[in-house]
Amino acid sequence: MEQQGFTVWFTGLSGAGKTTISDAIEPLLRERGITKLEKLDGDVVRTHLSKGLGFSKEDRDTNILRIGFVAGEIVHAGGAVICAAISPYRAARNEARGMVGENFIMAYMDTPVEVCEQRDVKGLYVKARQAMADGHPMGFTGVDDPYEPPIDPEITLKGYGATPEENAHRVIEYLEAQGFLS
Ligand code: ADX
Repeated sequence: MEQQGFTVWFTGLSGAGKTTISDAIEPLLRERGITKLEKLDGDVVRTHLSKGLGFSKEDRDTNILRIGFVAGEIVHAGGAVICAAISPYRAARNEARGMVGENFIMAYMDTPVEVCEQRDVKGLYVKARQAMADGHPMGFTGVDDPYEPPIDPEITLKGYGATPEENAHRVIEYLEAQGFLS
């Protein structure tokens, strides 16, 4: 069966587990015959396609629209895409969905800020709190910058209490039920 294009778009706070689950899903998809597969991760995209963009609302929206555009191009060519970006603004996420079309699956990594902050893998939450205390707020998502949770995501996952493998399998089950996997 010819592969059908689709995008799984992970949204959630920094440290919510978006990249981790993307990495866990990739081999599972390849095993299932999804060989035309790309990952678009915010941290990586920002070193190339979105290099030079900052974290103002405008720059974040530009970043998300670029990722959405590329995802759409790949999906229309029959490829699968896993996107992982905070994508804090609902309107920009909806625009990305519009560029991809109906094979767009919003997956919300619903990990509370307290959990992300406790992990603080990159040490950025500490920095953000310090910047606030110093009177130079840096606009860090979930600390002093907004995050608008999705209203009707196709999938909601908890980035704590479940292993990345368990979450990855939930996504695979969803894709299977929707007929994206043979
Ligand atoms: S988005 O808002 O445009 O979707 P994106 O996912 O590309 O963000 O990048 C987020 C990553 O940038 C975070 O995981 C973190 O490592 C880093 N980062 C640096 N500054 C900020 C900030 N002010 N807010 C959020 N993330 C930041």
